[in-house]
Amino acid sequence: MTMAAKIAVIPGDGIGSEVTEACLQVLEASGVALEFQNYHAGDYCLERFGRALPEETLAGALEAQAVLFGAAGASAAEVILRLRAELGTYVNLRPAKAFRGVECLYPSCDIMIVRENTECLYAGIESRLTADVATATRLITRGASRRIALSAFEYARQNGRKKVTAVHKVNVLRKTDALFLECCREVAKDYPQVAYEEGLVDSVAMRLVMDPSAYDVIVTTNLFGDILSDLAAGLIGGLGLCPSANLGDEHALFEPVHGSAPDIAGQGLANPSASIMCGAMLLRHLGHTAQAEKIEKALAAAIAAKEATPDLGGGLKTMQMAQAVIARM
Ligand code: NAI
Ligand code: MG
Repeated sequence: MTMAAKIAVIPGDGIGSEVTEACLQVLEASGVALEFQNYHAGDYCLERFGRALPEETLAGALEAQAVLFGAAGASAAEVILRLRAELGTYVNLRPAKAFRGVECLYPSCDIMIVRENTECLYAGIESRLTADVATATRLITRGASRRIALSAFEYARQNGRKKVTAVHKVNVLRKTDALFLECCREVAKDYPQVAYEEGLVDSVAMRLVMDPSAYDVIVTTNLFGDILSDLAAGLIGGLGLCPSANLGDEHALFEPVHGSAPDIAGQGLANPSASIMCGAMLLRHLGHTAQAEKIEKALAAAIAAKEATPDLGGGLKTMQMAQAVIARM
């Protein structure tokens, strides 16, 4: 008997808790031995306990073999940015792959965005200099840039991807993006089997909307990656379909790209697909490849059959969709 892997579960606010519950039911049905421990975080937690991310939650996340996160509301920066930093998860993998049966702009879209997760304008170096002037510092380092470029090329190599596009704005951000690109070019040399190109973020955004097949793997800095991954979600039918993995050398945290969606919270309208895909990514991370595939196939089949939430053209509630996925496993 192998020991059950310890999973820290942080459902958070709004639909975060709804989609996480759906994911947990699917994970339980997968038959993999997992030991779930629930932790508080988010707006409700701040209100109730005076902290958006209690020390106990942080300790639990650090102790676990993997973390499953839902979403936080207004306190998202305090919660998820701190978690990513404390866990040292410097890579954020954000796939945007269309599903059969979902009406969307690009039914064959299949892009992986590899987002740097620790620095850029998200380093938290902001100042209010005077009543009328505020600044933010864009932090780019060789270490973080090299390691994100390596992650992107390794992902491409291991998954049979053909091309990596480094997305930047070096014509304006002359120092920071020059360093970022220097690192990408160096790493690209070690991967002759993967094509390498560069693109300015504004023109990449336009081209993504007009012809996403121009892209395969995108590697980029924190802010551009945040924005482009929501854009990519729009190409395949919405945020409800986009999971993400935060990976570091010692820890891994899986979370939907979407937030707490207060406009639909508490009504059973939340699409649990992103969270369920996070569950599959978590299983794959722990080495349970077959069970991860089983979940992904069951989810795709349920979506194709419109056994899904209203955003996917179905008539099911969040938990009913989870049950439909389980029935197909
Ligand atoms: P959002 O991702 O929560 O929602 C954007 C739109 O997409 C809304 O119309 C929502 O109804 C829809 N949507 C999102 N997920 C969906 C799902 N699973 N099924 C169906 N529809 C879905 O982003 P928004 O509205 O900009 O932010 C709401 C709150 O979430 C804010 O307080 C923000 O700070 C927080 N947030 C938290 C994140 C995190 O915890 N990682 C990430 C993004 C936002
Ligand atoms: Mg975002």
